[in-house]
Amino acid sequence: MTIKAVVFDAYGTLYDVQSVAAVTDDAFPGYGEIITQIWRLKQLEYTWLRSLMQRYEDFSVITRESLTYTLMVLGLKPDAGIFDRIMDKYVHLDLYPDAREALVALKGYKLAILSNGSTDMLNALVRNTALDKILDATISIDSKKIFKPSPEAYTLIESNLGVKPSEVLFVSSNPFDVCGAKAFGLNVAWIERVTTDAMALECRKSDLIRPLTMFKAIRMQMDQLGFEPDHRVAGLSGLPKLLA
Ligand code: LAC
Repeated sequence: MTIKAVVFDAYGTLYDVQSVAAVTDDAFPGYGEIITQIWRLKQLEYTWLRSLMQRYEDFSVITRESLTYTLMVLGLKPDAGIFDRIMDKYVHLDLYPDAREALVALKGYKLAILSNGSTDMLNALVRNTALDKILDATISIDSKKIFKPSPEAYTLIESNLGVKPSEVLFVSSNPFDVCGAKAFGLNVAWIERVTTDAMALECRKSDLIRPLTMFKAIRMQMDQLGFEPDHRVAGLSGLPKLLA
């Protein structure tokens, strides 16, 4: 394959969505993990629901609404200051430790993000983590008003970067995004952070499944939709070798 561009999903792939846990636990001690998991589960669910309902709101609205839902079901009542402090972490998410080095090692390819995030959220996040100095483009699905995994969203790669789907390696850790990108016709590398064996082991004969374990089982294992990634890599650091 002649790959000209490497395009990354943002949340969960380059940026660790679990890194909100410290802030959520600081705001509501003892609730950090459950808030973190319900929030992310609902955030993604709301993107799909709004797309199906044809009632698009951008990802910052979705992120607020899913946090409101989460705190409501847990019986937690934040004041506006606490709510905003939690939300603010979304523009200061931690990069995965191997993200920057992997991107730098891929210099020579067109490098971009294609994310469900809104333009403002993504630009702030990319700037706050200094990825703006490395990436050629940060593409939000906002202009299409429909979220990944809609094929409409993936058309933005060619229209923004001028590369054909066959010339793109799309990188995501999110199984729904991997399936969407494959269905659209991109070459896809799945960042498989939790192997099936590790998953099974974590769940084996356990009476008490942690919220994080449930999250891994629901959102970090390959979906059974009839699409498989072209490549599976354990981390972002495996990408330069894959492309060499
Ligand atoms: C994104 C979400 C789906 O960055 O993680 O597009």
